[in-house]
Amino acid sequence: MRTQIGIIGAGPAGLLLAQLLYLRGIASVVLESQSRQHVEERIRAGVLEQGTVDLLHAAGVGERLQREGLEHHGIELRFASQGHRIALHELTGRAITIYGQQEVVKDLIRARLETGGELLFEVSQVALSGLDSASPSVRFRHGGREQVLECNFIAGCDGFHGVSRASIPAGVLQEYGRHYPYAWLGILAAAPPTSPELIYAHHDRGFALYSMRSPAITRLYLQCAPDEDLTRWPDERIWSELRLRLETGDGWRLAEGEILQKGVTPMRSFVAEPMRCGALFLAGDAAHIVPPTGAKGLNLAVNDVRVLAEAFESFYLERNSQALGNYSARCLKRVWRAEHFSWWMTTMLHRTPDEDRFYEKLQLAQLEYVTSSRAAAASLAENYVGLPFDLQ
Ligand code: APR
Ligand code: PHB
Repeated sequence: MRTQIGIIGAGPAGLLLAQLLYLRGIASVVLESQSRQHVEERIRAGVLEQGTVDLLHAAGVGERLQREGLEHHGIELRFASQGHRIALHELTGRAITIYGQQEVVKDLIRARLETGGELLFEVSQVALSGLDSASPSVRFRHGGREQVLECNFIAGCDGFHGVSRASIPAGVLQEYGRHYPYAWLGILAAAPPTSPELIYAHHDRGFALYSMRSPAITRLYLQCAPDEDLTRWPDERIWSELRLRLETGDGWRLAEGEILQKGVTPMRSFVAEPMRCGALFLAGDAAHIVPPTGAKGLNLAVNDVRVLAEAFESFYLERNSQALGNYSARCLKRVWRAEHFSWWMTTMLHRTPDEDRFYEKLQLAQLEYVTSSRAAAASLAENYVGLPFDLQ
């Protein structure tokens, strides 16, 4: 097999890159280790920045998003039993849209198949070679046969545990990161949202997040231990803990319903620099991870492939490789801004085991400040809705 860009991974990064390249007349083949059903059903985050929504529309995959996405103009920070609204739209002129990541993935897979693009699921034994040459290749097994994909460049969009970053020789990458001493226990519940906007709650018993997917489905998270055993969390315990952490004294009640899915999300920050090694370009979770508190993971992946698609366009259409040379530095600016914001939101809102009352008082002082100073609220808001693409 031969193509221009070999794309490893059919998450949002790999699939959107394939679509952006298709629109520019650049050929690609996408290789995914999981089944189509698996990637379409994997429940992940669901907050799209305005720029992400605009890009999905421009890429021709915004139709269902337009119909089903829930546009939100604010979020709530809840602490000391009181809610405080951050008026995102009023402060920034921009909004966010709630639309599950797996819905974005479904729309992109459909677009890929409709345009006749190559997308192979359930490939195994993926191995990259020739990264230091102008003709790298990807070896893999598919349908019981060994195959080789020859290309000009490889896009490593295979997430944190993928093969791409691991194929880069030792000593090339600098890695930076942090593990947090907590995780999120997330549920999807058949219950109508009882708050029109997301609620981020700081509580003595730990952080909680109230989110949603549709007018009939809520998405909720509770801070838990990194190695939390889900068998210790029967449904009733989850609801009672959510009630304790989210309900305020003003009569607001959490609507409950059947729990459709439960899982534990680890929390980490990670960046590998540079996001390129020869003919291999890393994008999305393959290069960086943010804790989910800032809702930035998917949006960062989208920005990476936006920049990468432009750089490939400049290479193929103008024979100019300068943009490819600038890819890593250009993406890393936004990555580090989002790393800081996600770390800041995370440490402001979670209860840190072993921290003393001094730390908690600092968190509360910070929460008071961002909810009472327009300047501080505007700073949170502009990061949350996403800085404009051209301001990087
Ligand atoms: N070969 C082929 N595919 C692979 C391999 C491999 N060796 N290893 C992993 N993959 C696939 C995974 O199965 C997954 O479908 O690569 C894909 C990577 O997708 P994501 O993990 O969704 O990563 P990305 O596209 O960068 O999207 C980032 O995902 O984790 C969330 O919060 C994160 O929203 C962010 C988004
Ligand atoms: C979600 O709806 O899954 C969600 C929302 C906001 C976050 C993280 C996850 O910060």
